[in-house]
Amino acid sequence: MPNPEQSLSLPGYLQENETSQEFRDLIVSIPTEKGWIANHLHQYQGFWHTTRQLQGVLACQKHLQAQDGDIFLVTTPKSGSTWLKAVMFALVNRVSFPDTKQHPLLTNNPHALLPFLEMEYIGKENLDFTNYTFPRLFSTHLPLLSLPRSVEDSECKLVYLCRNPKDIFVSLWHFTNKLRPIDWGASSLEETFDKFCRGVNLYGPFWDHVLGYWKESLERPHRVFFLKYEEMKNEPRIQLRRLSEFLGCPFSLEEENSGVLDEILELCSFENLSNLEVNNIGRLHSGEEHQAFFRRGEVGDSMNYLTAEMVEKIDMITEQKLHCHGLKF
Ligand code: A3P
Repeated sequence: MPNPEQSLSLPGYLQENETSQEFRDLIVSIPTEKGWIANHLHQYQGFWHTTRQLQGVLACQKHLQAQDGDIFLVTTPKSGSTWLKAVMFALVNRVSFPDTKQHPLLTNNPHALLPFLEMEYIGKENLDFTNYTFPRLFSTHLPLLSLPRSVEDSECKLVYLCRNPKDIFVSLWHFTNKLRPIDWGASSLEETFDKFCRGVNLYGPFWDHVLGYWKESLERPHRVFFLKYEEMKNEPRIQLRRLSEFLGCPFSLEEENSGVLDEILELCSFENLSNLEVNNIGRLHSGEEHQAFFRRGEVGDSMNYLTAEMVEKIDMITEQKLHCHGLKF
């Protein structure tokens, strides 16, 4: 069992600090399980959150004032959020930053360029995003049903990114092992696999998260753009073009011919971002080292870690939960 002093070296959202009586009342009324690293995960509106992060979720739901034209990048953890943050920032701001040799992404980790809503709201209520340049770009891992009411009530666009659950699991396992204090050792692959399959992981169950946005993208395609990491890997030019059209900022013929699209993809490539100095030193203000967000960046790396039984089990869940809705990985 982790002791409190060791826990202080964890990122803030994995720690459990003082909370209000109202919050404590909520916590005792909802299901709780042991987390992968944090002592507790709480199931709120069907999905699992750490104690502090849940405070951020509640504050965000209560206080965020979404506006027409806002863009939300919604991802499942480890689906390539860092990559798509970079791509969307470069895409939407390409007029302000036309030179990819002198670009904010060369000196800022992508997470620093898009506010991560529920993390920003931890311990804060009065965040002011009103002076952000239009269109405002936000990121979140919130499931569809947990998005703030103001998002539903305004003309926002949601870009949703997900990934094959086997690669998500293995990426998450590596990531959480990096966050663990050294003397805790690595977490057991089998134990965390069992939790993942039961949906007990940050923002899990993975399958319910994906399904919510998948259905919404079918019903309201002008509102939700549904993208898989694998599609972005296999056909980046096609997907970037689709994304630009969805966001209402399509590439002109002149831009296509002068290589703007390819420059954005090159700037945001795994090779480029993972080798930048800024991404090899320093931490996010939530505590994670920048370099923890870059590992292999490949499709199918999970096959190097999962047993045949694990693959069979996770594939079966995916088939049962998603195939009947026409969604395959
Ligand atoms: P792996 O652990 O499989 O390598 P997130 O950004 O949502 O936390 O996801 C992290 C995953 O995306 C990691 O996957 C990471 O290596 C990969 N990744 C990060 N930047 C990338 C990029 N520019 N292109 C492709 N994959 C990237």
